[in-house]
Amino acid sequence: MSAQLFQQYSQFEDGLIRKFHSHRFYRTFSQLTREQFIDYLLQIGVLSENFVKWYETAKLGMASEVAYEVIRHILRDEIPQNAPTHQDDRLYDLNLIGVSTERVRNVKPSEVTSKTVERLYELVRYPQEDYDLRIMVTLRIAGEVLVAEQYQHVIRYMRVNLGIAGSQSRFYFPHWQHDLKGAKVEGEPGHTDSFDKLLESMITDERKLEVAMDAAKKAFEARSGIHDQFVRKPTRFLLRTAGVAVALLLTLFMGTSVYQKMAKPSYYEFLASLPPGARNFYLDLEISLIERARAGIDVKNLHRIGTSKYASEVWSVWP
Ligand SMILES: [Fe+2]
Repeated sequence: MSAQLFQQYSQFEDGLIRKFHSHRFYRTFSQLTREQFIDYLLQIGVLSENFVKWYETAKLGMASEVAYEVIRHILRDEIPQNAPTHQDDRLYDLNLIGVSTERVRNVKPSEVTSKTVERLYELVRYPQEDYDLRIMVTLRIAGEVLVAEQYQHVIRYMRVNLGIAGSQSRFYFPHWQHDLKGAKVEGEPGHTDSFDKLLESMITDERKLEVAMDAAKKAFEARSGIHDQFVRKPTRFLLRTAGVAVALLLTLFMGTSVYQKMAKPSYYEFLASLPPGARNFYLDLEISLIERARAGIDVKNLHRIGTSKYASEVWSVWP
């Protein structure tokens, strides 16, 4: 029963992976300029810098010793005993791409990136109901599964756009290899699959399956949120486009004879339509008022000249 439930969970996860790649940002990823690509790498690098601290924080409070050990195993890979750490390797790859160490060391997390980090920590807050299950699913999705999917795009861009082969990479390519769902590293399960047996033992009934899927969805949303800063806001874009279209249509419409017929004529247009005698009567009233204003007798009504309101209020005559 549990194996079947885990299978259901795994299929749900596969759906999230497909959704991840359908993000507008990845559909046009290969068209990024080199500078946009670097900016993207530096912002997602902030999540990478937080990886060890986030895993260390998340595991504190779990009841399962097996779960602890799965996390510790991944953390040991992060800072191996006799080899460069993963952050050393990340710097190596960024230098290879042409980003200076100074630039890497002085990256300022954007507002969206900072919010993403905040959301990831919020997901591993303690205490929570079903803590072990929620934490393991959250770390697997946001720390392993989606990292591999994300780095697929990075590797492809490096190879196709920058001419850097996977074999030259020490960070993005090896990470993709060992984080990928279904991957084997020297015959052993990769990071994502190292959660399998444990999750299978945890998802024991329908309620637990719901919890796992809920945690996966929230981790997916938090981790994917970082991409929002790299695409134009569709609503803002649509509103701007719609605004321009409406303004254009309005301008065209105002030039048409239909509009001219629909629009209320101005006071002078009205006067122009009168027979000469009547028109002169009203024009004389205007001239009189202008002269009164010039002589300083009645300046307060000057702003009403040219309006029918003036004629009615000042002269008690309605045109
Ligand atoms: Fe990993």
